[in-house]
Amino acid sequence: MRTQVGIIGCGPAGLFLALLLARAGIGCVNLERRSRAEVETTLRAGVLEHWVAELMDALGVGVRMRREAHFHAGITLQWQRQRYHLDIEALTGGRRVTVYPQHEVLKDLIAGRLAQGGELIFDVEETEIRGIDGAAPSIGFRRKGSELETLECDYVVGADGFHGPARQAIPRSARVEYEKVYPFGWLGILTQAKKSWHELIYANQAGGFALLSTRSDDVQRMYVQCDPADNVENWPDDRIWDELDARLGTDDGWSLIHGTIFQKNIVGLRSFVCEPMQHGKLFIAGDAAHIVPPTGAKGLNLAVADVLVLSRALEARYRRGEQEALDRYSETCLRRIWKAERFSWFMTTMLHDNPQESGFDRRIHFAELDLLRTSRAAAMSLAENYVGLAFD
Ligand code: FAD
Ligand code: DHB
Repeated sequence: MRTQVGIIGCGPAGLFLALLLARAGIGCVNLERRSRAEVETTLRAGVLEHWVAELMDALGVGVRMRREAHFHAGITLQWQRQRYHLDIEALTGGRRVTVYPQHEVLKDLIAGRLAQGGELIFDVEETEIRGIDGAAPSIGFRRKGSELETLECDYVVGADGFHGPARQAIPRSARVEYEKVYPFGWLGILTQAKKSWHELIYANQAGGFALLSTRSDDVQRMYVQCDPADNVENWPDDRIWDELDARLGTDDGWSLIHGTIFQKNIVGLRSFVCEPMQHGKLFIAGDAAHIVPPTGAKGLNLAVADVLVLSRALEARYRRGEQEALDRYSETCLRRIWKAERFSWFMTTMLHDNPQESGFDRRIHFAELDLLRTSRAAAMSLAENYVGLAFD
């Protein structure tokens, strides 16, 4: 089998790239380890930056998102039982964030790509990246229960997430990895309940972080800070509601609406960057190259930013024979990535109770939160980062 660009992964990075390349008239094939059903049901991100929602429209896959998503003009920050509304729309000249779950985005991208006749191969095993130092790279793989096959291509794109093989295909001596692991995780729940508040609440109160988000009028998504090594078995529903009530509670009579909890999971928080993001004919994108803690809602958005840069560079290469943008892919992406790393680290540090920090540090975080209330410049900086920075 032969194509121009062989893509490993059908996550946000791999699927957005497939649609972007198709729009530019460049051939590609996606190889995905998981089944289509698993890709379309795994719960992850919830928030799209303004331009990502617009990109879905431009790629012809935004119709259901426009109908079903929630468009939020701001977020609420909470500490010491006080709430503050950060008016993102006013602070950014009219931009909003879109609350639309990642698996719904993926459903729309998969349907859009298949409708174009695009090739997405699910359930592949034994993916092997070959020949990236030479002129004829390829990807070896096996469809479930079948013979080994080879996908020959001009370029290999590793959009295979943090645990995929692509980053490891860059020789250890040719890459540098930067990492920070936080001493806390998030317990995430889905509950059958009406909305308790009109927008997302990010809270640092009563010993830690909590996030109130939404999935629909009847299903709500909430997170509470926990030990990253903890197990959901240690979190009976009553304990979860007690923590959420304490962390989201106010003194003005508001109360959190409880419902049946039907999903629980725990994730650890880390920051990670691999430099460079290319080697020979291999390019890595999204979580394969970098991880942000989820507090800034940046991971999916950053994955899409990488493949937008990559698709433009590949278009310049195929259409006009220009190599420069491709050679600078990593450098171009890393400028945005490090700003997102900084923002995600800042939100995470400000909003969590870190057992390794002192009382002094905690006071500084409350001062940072209060500064957002009293300084338009500080509020504007947060709003611009949250809704999505401009591309330079
Ligand atoms: P992935 O989504 O990991 O996709 C990689 C794909 O490659 C997977 O489907 C995998 O099966 C496949 N693969 C791996 N190995 C192979 C192989 N050998 N062969 C073939 N296929 C392979 N981000 C936001 O922007 N906003 C948010 O609000 C947000 N909230 C989050 C909340 C939580 C709790 C979590 C865990 C994450 C959140 N994120 C958020 C982050 C976001 O989900 C990720 O950054 C995003 O999924 C990255 O996309 P990706 O395509 O790079 O990688
Ligand atoms: C959601 C996840 C996030 O990490 C975030 O910052 C906001 C919302 C969510 O899953 O809804």
